[in-house]
Amino acid sequence: MTPKTFKIKSFGCQMNVYDGERMAELLGAEGMIPAAETADADLVVLNTCHIREKAADKAYSDIGRLRREDGSKPLIALAGCVAQAEGAEAKRRSPMIDIVVGPQVYHRLPEMVAEASRGARPVDTDLPPLSKFDAFPKRRRATPSAFLTVQEGCDKFCTYCVVPYTRGAEVSRPWDDIVAEAHGLVDGGARELVLLGQNVNAWAHSGRSFAELIRGLAKIDGLERIRYTTSHPVNMTEDLIAAHGEVPKLMPYLHLPVQSGSNPILKAMNRSHTTDTYLATIEKVRAARPDIALSSDFIVGFPGESEEDFEATLRIVEEVRYASAYSFKYSARPGTPAAAMEDQIPVEIMDDRLQRLQARINAHQLAFNAKTVGIDTEVLIERKGRHDGQMIGRSPWLQSVHLETAAAPGEIVEVTLVAAGPNSMTGAVRERVAA
Ligand code: 5AD
Ligand code: SF4
Repeated sequence: MTPKTFKIKSFGCQMNVYDGERMAELLGAEGMIPAAETADADLVVLNTCHIREKAADKAYSDIGRLRREDGSKPLIALAGCVAQAEGAEAKRRSPMIDIVVGPQVYHRLPEMVAEASRGARPVDTDLPPLSKFDAFPKRRRATPSAFLTVQEGCDKFCTYCVVPYTRGAEVSRPWDDIVAEAHGLVDGGARELVLLGQNVNAWAHSGRSFAELIRGLAKIDGLERIRYTTSHPVNMTEDLIAAHGEVPKLMPYLHLPVQSGSNPILKAMNRSHTTDTYLATIEKVRAARPDIALSSDFIVGFPGESEEDFEATLRIVEEVRYASAYSFKYSARPGTPAAAMEDQIPVEIMDDRLQRLQARINAHQLAFNAKTVGIDTEVLIERKGRHDGQMIGRSPWLQSVHLETAAAPGEIVEVTLVAAGPNSMTGAVRERVAA
């Protein structure tokens, strides 16, 4: 039976969120309707992440739960990075799976759904660069802040990471395609674009750099804000750093993962930066844009990490004073070099280190927020808050700001930041700027 309704559940990074949106558009173009709940959907797409922990096991148990009380089940598509890693094996492990589709070929989802409706169980985990982008329908509606994938894949081969295997080699989308999609999103209501890529600042095409792309996109009328994520420290070029000081639409926020504060661990991770080169980059970024909010990712318990190595990580946190940061326990990923390294760290030690690290990160985050109290700034309204008349938006520093206003999502309002919490700010509206 051909499905009429669908539900897509995306896990993991923002690129997966983008992929989930595009799958929804593809299915929508076939006349299918999004269902509010999984239970109401004829087709369920699990758009999975493989980066940490027991991702595959979790996906299979999620699939098991899709069986309904009357014994029936929806059509089930396993998508995303677990699909890429498992391939045809997925069908053997779970007879409930009808479709296995990797992150580079999901433009084929509609035809695979048609095949599955006829009883086939198609699998496609090819890694052709970029061809999916050509197949997408034109974008018509966008959220005030919209994701735009400009680069995919990774050639850096950090020894802990699955991305080079699940997303393939580093590729950049062509300039014209990105600009056309950006115009479509702005025409559809986006005021902010978040440029996405596993190594977004490695974007380069036809001799043009990522900094030039940002400057080019900043010329689009109606586009008010530009952000990008995730960056690699080695691709923080002088022209990109300069853009942070020169392009007003480029928001003062930079997610620049350091992963560890210990040079021997960085070397074992194959990060190709040291703490010194990283800190020198941070210094230059701050010179270009003194108010910039900095963010990072950290891994604790990488194989061989001693107490001394971990303390070096705590020291770099004190030095940089991040406005926010994500920290994770190391998780051995099958097939990666680090999984085969000696001296894997016991989980109790990882738990202890994670707790100590997060306590410092949280303290810095609160301190950053407290320092912005009293500042007059602009907030892009994104959605309704919990109370009547309350809206939630973002400050330039990516803080979530709660405020009372009649302004609608997509409007930018002049706000004074009046109170700080650990995870959000309270704002008082001064006036509306742009609709
Ligand atoms: N174990 C733990 N964390 C990981 N990350 C990537 N691979 C692993 C792993 N095997 C973290 C890194 C990366 C973020 C997206 O996820 O910190 O920057
Ligand atoms: Fe997860 Fe990485 Fe795949 Fe994103 S690219 S979904 S973080 S494994």
